[in-house]
Amino acid sequence: MKGIILAGGTGTRLAPLTKVTNKHLLPVGREPMIFNPIRQLISAEIKDILVITSKEHMGDIVQLLGSGAEFGCSFTFKVQESAGGIAHALALAEGFSNGGRITVILGDNILTHSIKSHVDEYLKKESGAYVLIKKVGDPERYGVAALDEQKKMIIKIEEKPSKPESDYAVIGVYMYDSDVFSIIRTIKPSTRGELEISSVNNEYIARGKLQYGVVNGGWTDAGTFESLQYANSLLLEVKNNIFTEKNNENTI
Ligand code: G1P
Repeated sequence: MKGIILAGGTGTRLAPLTKVTNKHLLPVGREPMIFNPIRQLISAEIKDILVITSKEHMGDIVQLLGSGAEFGCSFTFKVQESAGGIAHALALAEGFSNGGRITVILGDNILTHSIKSHVDEYLKKESGAYVLIKKVGDPERYGVAALDEQKKMIIKIEEKPSKPESDYAVIGVYMYDSDVFSIIRTIKPSTRGELEISSVNNEYIARGKLQYGVVNGGWTDAGTFESLQYANSLLLEVKNNIFTEKNNENTI
């Protein structure tokens, strides 16, 4: 299993904090934001990691992260020339994934508890995809999962719905088999002009191949001033350590 961190985008909702730097380099707790998704992947024993970011910020990202030796992992870097949505960025990872399965994390998603149990669950199945969901107070900001809780299935995912069918946000951690890349080639841009990851996930639903798990512990994105402040409070409290499920102790 390889890991991919998507750290592109313009971060306009955080301007002027993002005028000269990349959103994923902003401080969250004691560390730059991007350290949390890196630590998440490593906690799930995923140590071959591709970081995708824009041309403008690649220099800073490489200077911060280096080879990965400091983290006990190996980084590969790839430039996203233009911001075209999450699925558009993910398409760049096809060569890196080399036909294997991948865990994708959006660089602005912050989690307090390890995703390892979800990765293990996903790997029990031979193929398909797996998403994580979390109950939130403002579902209209996210991809929202309509659930059949008895069958433990997601019926559909709606991207930023004005009338959400549930309070469950689909968070920015996704696991895919190699079909994801042929699916990305078939999806069309949304009304906001982006190749949406929710369109990809809906295709897995149509094929009967999307599993889900519920997030343990705290989660937030950190792309707005309010959510960035919440992300700071979540990670400051745990000194940026990630809790594992096994021993419920900080591991990293
Ligand atoms: C993206 C996804 C959305 C998901 C969210 C999680 O939204 O499109 O489905 O719920 O990340 O952070 P964005 O924040 O890029 O608008």
